[in-house]
Amino acid sequence: MTGTQGLSLQDYLAAELQSVDRVLDKWVPPETSEPVSIHRAMRYSLFAGGKRIRPILAIAAGRAVSSSPLGIENAAATLELVHTYSLIHDDLPALDNDDLRRGRPTCHKMFGEAIAILTGDALLTLAFEVLGRLPHIAAERKIRLVEELARAAGTVGGMIGGQVNDIEGERLPPTAALLESIHRAKTGALLRSSVRMGALYAGASAEQLGALSKYGEHVGLAFQIIDDLLDVEESSEALGKTAGKDLAQQKITFPAVYGQARSRALAEEERRAAHEALRIFDERAEPLHQVADFIVQRKA
Ligand code: IPE
Ligand code: IPE
Ligand code: MG
Ligand code: MG
Ligand code: MG
Repeated sequence: MTGTQGLSLQDYLAAELQSVDRVLDKWVPPETSEPVSIHRAMRYSLFAGGKRIRPILAIAAGRAVSSSPLGIENAAATLELVHTYSLIHDDLPALDNDDLRRGRPTCHKMFGEAIAILTGDALLTLAFEVLGRLPHIAAERKIRLVEELARAAGTVGGMIGGQVNDIEGERLPPTAALLESIHRAKTGALLRSSVRMGALYAGASAEQLGALSKYGEHVGLAFQIIDDLLDVEESSEALGKTAGKDLAQQKITFPAVYGQARSRALAEEERRAAHEALRIFDERAEPLHQVADFIVQRKA
């Protein structure tokens, strides 16, 4: 038996995705709830085929620490709420101005800019409501989770800070230092926090939390290197989002600074370091190893 309960990686990811989606469906108001326009838009963007990699990482980290962290899917789902909000806003005309997301017209193309902005706001707000209402853990632990998620999504080294640097970096000379600070913040922070939230939920020791934070940093950086590579290498159809956008918008990306071959080698280095960070764990960390491989080997 493996840490993925004997399932292939593909089946494991599919099963985890389903359990995350079940929980999301439970927390997000139905489309019939007033005002229906916002609930329709929230569900449109959420249930459009995302990989759910952040909640999957959170659950896997929790299970590396404790064999059955009851209700962890609820905490994990909050990462997907924040992530989907960040995508809706990333696609807005004032940011990346994208028409296609998760294989569908973007939220603002479908519902208009005002509703898209509010949909992002609503998903972000709902994430913190869910953390406040988590059914199985003590209040003190909930507060740590709230702080963790807020910091990761925030301005100092967090997602919003990274998005600001990304937007302001357009057309600037792409330097290695700027590149790393953008990537660590805009994508790395939430991925690192995904792992940390799972660990905190499950009551990780300081040593475990430290090791998982390192793992999260490495998979976070690898994730955005691959996202940048896929933007160059794959079609819009395969990605479900517009390919070739980064070059067109003169974004500071790994391929722009290092070229494709070197970028792939750097992602490999991050993958190796992620595996190495897990050395203090037993076979319960097997899903985390496998997700690190998936992140670097994925084609979309
Ligand atoms: C895309 O994230 C945006 C980045 C942060 C790089 P994902 O590749 O996780 O997108 P979904 O959730 O699967 O659509
Ligand atoms: C977005 O990065 C990161 C977020 C915080 C949403 P990108 O702009 O590279 O994401 P894609 O390529 O549009 O998915
Ligand atoms: Mg962007
Ligand atoms: Mg974008
Ligand atoms: Mg991208």
